[in-house]
Amino acid sequence: MGLLILLTSTLLYSYFHPGRVVDAQRLFILKDITLTIEPSKDVKRGTNVSLRCKATVSQSETWELRREYTVYKDNNLIYNKTSISEEILYPLGEARVANSGKYRCEINIDDKPQRPSETQKLTVTGLSKPQLRLNKGVVKEGEEITATCIAPGEMGSFFFYIYEDSNEIKEKQVSSNQAEFKLRFSSVNRRRIHCTYTVLITPYSVKSEESNNVTVSVKELPITIDLDIDPVTRVYEGDQLNILCKVNGLQHSDESVRLLLIQGIQILSSGLTNVSHSMVAQANYAEEFECKFEMGNVVKTATKTISVIELFSAPTLTVSPDEVFQRDDVTLTCKSESYASERLSEDELTYTLDPPQTPQTPSRKGVFSVKSLRIETNYTCVAEAMRIKKRSKTLTVRPKIFVSTPKISVVGRAILGQPVKILCQSDIGSLPINYTLFKDFVEVSTISINRSSQQAHFEVNITSPEDIKQYICEASNNHRHNKQPLSEKLNAIVIVPPSYAELMAVPDESGIYEGDDLYLLCRADGTPPVTFKWYHVGNNLPLYTNTSNDYSSSYQVPSVSKEHNGRYYCEAFNHVNKVVRSEEVTIEVQMVLWKKALIGGFCLLAVSVLVVVCVLCFRSKRGKRDGAAELSVKPSSPKSDDTLTVTLTHDTEVYNADKVVMDSGAAVSVWTKRPPEEDVAIDEESSMVTKEPDVEYTEVVHPRPVDPARGPADYHDYVSN
Ligand SMILES: *[C@@H]1O[C@H](CO)[C@@H](O)[C@H](O)[C@H]1NC(C)=O
Ligand SMILES: *[C@@H]1O[C@H](CO)[C@@H](O)[C@H](O)[C@H]1NC(C)=O
Ligand SMILES: *[C@@H]1O[C@H](CO)[C@@H](O)[C@H](O)[C@H]1NC(C)=O
Ligand SMILES: *[C@@H]1O[C@H](CO)[C@@H](O)[C@H](O)[C@H]1NC(C)=O
Ligand SMILES: *[C@@H]1O[C@H](CO)[C@@H](O)[C@H](O)[C@H]1NC(C)=O
Ligand SMILES: *[C@@H]1O[C@H](CO)[C@@H](O)[C@H](O)[C@H]1NC(C)=O
Ligand SMILES: *[C@@H]1O[C@H](CO)[C@@H](O)[C@H](O)[C@H]1NC(C)=O
Ligand SMILES: *[C@@H]1O[C@H](CO)[C@@H](O)[C@H](O)[C@H]1NC(C)=O
Ligand SMILES: *[C@@H]1O[C@H](CO)[C@@H](O)[C@H](O)[C@H]1NC(C)=O
Repeated sequence: MGLLILLTSTLLYSYFHPGRVVDAQRLFILKDITLTIEPSKDVKRGTNVSLRCKATVSQSETWELRREYTVYKDNNLIYNKTSISEEILYPLGEARVANSGKYRCEINIDDKPQRPSETQKLTVTGLSKPQLRLNKGVVKEGEEITATCIAPGEMGSFFFYIYEDSNEIKEKQVSSNQAEFKLRFSSVNRRRIHCTYTVLITPYSVKSEESNNVTVSVKELPITIDLDIDPVTRVYEGDQLNILCKVNGLQHSDESVRLLLIQGIQILSSGLTNVSHSMVAQANYAEEFECKFEMGNVVKTATKTISVIELFSAPTLTVSPDEVFQRDDVTLTCKSESYASERLSEDELTYTLDPPQTPQTPSRKGVFSVKSLRIETNYTCVAEAMRIKKRSKTLTVRPKIFVSTPKISVVGRAILGQPVKILCQSDIGSLPINYTLFKDFVEVSTISINRSSQQAHFEVNITSPEDIKQYICEASNNHRHNKQPLSEKLNAIVIVPPSYAELMAVPDESGIYEGDDLYLLCRADGTPPVTFKWYHVGNNLPLYTNTSNDYSSSYQVPSVSKEHNGRYYCEAFNHVNKVVRSEEVTIEVQMVLWKKALIGGFCLLAVSVLVVVCVLCFRSKRGKRDGAAELSVKPSSPKSDDTLTVTLTHDTEVYNADKVVMDSGAAVSVWTKRPPEEDVAIDEESSMVTKEPDVEYTEVVHPRPVDPARGPADYHDYVSN
């Protein structure tokens, strides 16, 4: 039982710790593994080369480890061996270039893979000389021969090349050390044939030297080609040409044969051993004839060149006059510039126009007249003689349309002092059109329009508004001497910017009274419509804006009051956008007349009171000086705290006399003997009574008792305070 447990644990241990230790008792470690190439890493072809793989292993006890060696070349396994020895020797034998490569060896010890050896690179130099063999040395044209190229004793992957007189003619990839080529030679000659090969070794290839030279003689086949053309000289256009091509000396052959008659790129005829062809000589075809015989890959040719003389040249079609307008009569002339006079008389040449004209027969030979041409027409003409027809190039006659009377106008606005754009335009007329601008019948400038998208824009400077009417323009699209259409005179308004603005108040600013309607009249020059704006100084926003077709406009302020006091100005501008500003006008609203009068009255009264008081004052002083006896007169009033009250009535405003010295016209109060608590309010009636103050005061003042403690000076004080 205990033995079984021990065995199980050993197995488990070895399972979970592979490689390092195989068994509790059987420990080993790979110390070193080396691959050596013997005798050397760089060898010549034919050297006996061996690979020695040696693995040094340390182990716990002496027992035999099972070693499995594998050798790799360029990562491909090439050899394996299981052995118990410390090293193995793998002989490569006599080395070939194909053995070149990178080698490495690996080892599994007791089925456990170990680290590999370092890589060693073997380089073998030297390839064997290729050998070339041909099955025949003498062949006929097109006959096949077999060439075999051999790389003796070589192995690997090959490319074979075959050369004819140093020019590579064929190549072949094979994995054996020989290759066969089928060769044919079509031309008679002696040729030197040789071959080479290359061996592919990763990542490049190694080229062999050249093989032996083999000479091949190619003999001509006894075949000739006859090409006959009749006639062969002085061939004129339209002449009949008979062409015959024939193969001579052809013996029976397995090869397929054919014979072709070719002119330029056109095959005229074909056959097996003979062809014949008839044609009319034409001047504008290639004149080289070729007869080509093919047998297998043997080609035999014969060529002949003839020159065909042109009977007459292709006609040219011309039109006169050069410049054609609608409904013009034109002349079309068709003419062949040259003809072969030895074969052809000029009379034999006839011309026709396409599309045909009526009358069909032209007045002069080749001269056609077309009446009242209306639309664009394509003309061609045909010259004919001896059944040969030649056509001219197409002539497109495009009758022009006369330019219509131009219209002259201003583009945008004409503004005095700014450049003015003038447009001259005709509704119809063929391009190109020249537009000429005149000022007072003196040419200013010309614009040539040759695209429909273009327009004739002239730019002029206007110095006075009347200037604009002097401009006129002309349109021309023909070189004829008759008159070119002239436009009307330019009729446009020149916008003159305002030069000043003037503001006026109505009524006149000296007489504006409360409640009046005030009119602020702004006047300016410049081309209407003029926009006016009124401003109250201190306010950037205009009070009012009006655009008027007149040179002035007014702004009404109904029922003015003191709030409307201030300075005003106005601005004016028109399309030019040049703003002119008026001088400022000061508005001072005055009080109405009856209020003034009232105030005046009061003033007068106040002055009167003043005078009275002064008089009283004077008198009381004198009285004091005159007699003390009168001092016994018992004064009854006024008391010492009596006050003089002056009341000014001005609508609802009440002024106290001790605060105000009467200055303006208003009702004036009198002071009385009445007790102080009784303020005396004097209405208009009482003020009217006091209109004669001298009488009243004299009467009142005389019997008046005088306070001995005070004296008249005090009264004066009251008044003046
Ligand atoms: C190479 O080894 C073979 C036999 O193993 C032997 O016959 C041959 O002569 C050797 N070649 C050279 C060049 O040593
Ligand atoms: C070793 O080579 C033999 C036959 O050549 C093959 O069957 C075997 O799988 C190879 N061993 C390894 C580890 O590649
Ligand atoms: C083959 O001929 C060429 C040219 O005549 C010559 O250069 C070359 O050496 C010849 N090759 C051999 C192997 O004779
Ligand atoms: C031309 O070839 C045809 C057959 O293709 C033959 O019948 C004829 O006789 C040959 N003519 C000449 C002149 O060889
Ligand atoms: C004239 O020929 C041109 C091309 O050659 C063609 O585009 C054009 O439409 C023809 N005009 C008329 C009026 O047939
Ligand atoms: C138009 O006129 C300009 C200048 O005169 C010239 O360069 C241009 O070639 C003309 N274009 C056409 C379509 O005639
Ligand atoms: C118009 O006046 C401006 C400047 O005053 C000048 O530059 C321009 O050349 C003038 N144009 C013409 C057509 O005279
Ligand atoms: C238009 O003007 C150009 C140049 O000024 C001139 O050559 C041409 O003949 C004129 N064309 C016409 C139809 O007047
Ligand atoms: C502008 O002024 C004109 C003339 O002064 C007047 O006829 C017109 O009614 C005014 N327009 C407005 C909107 O006040």
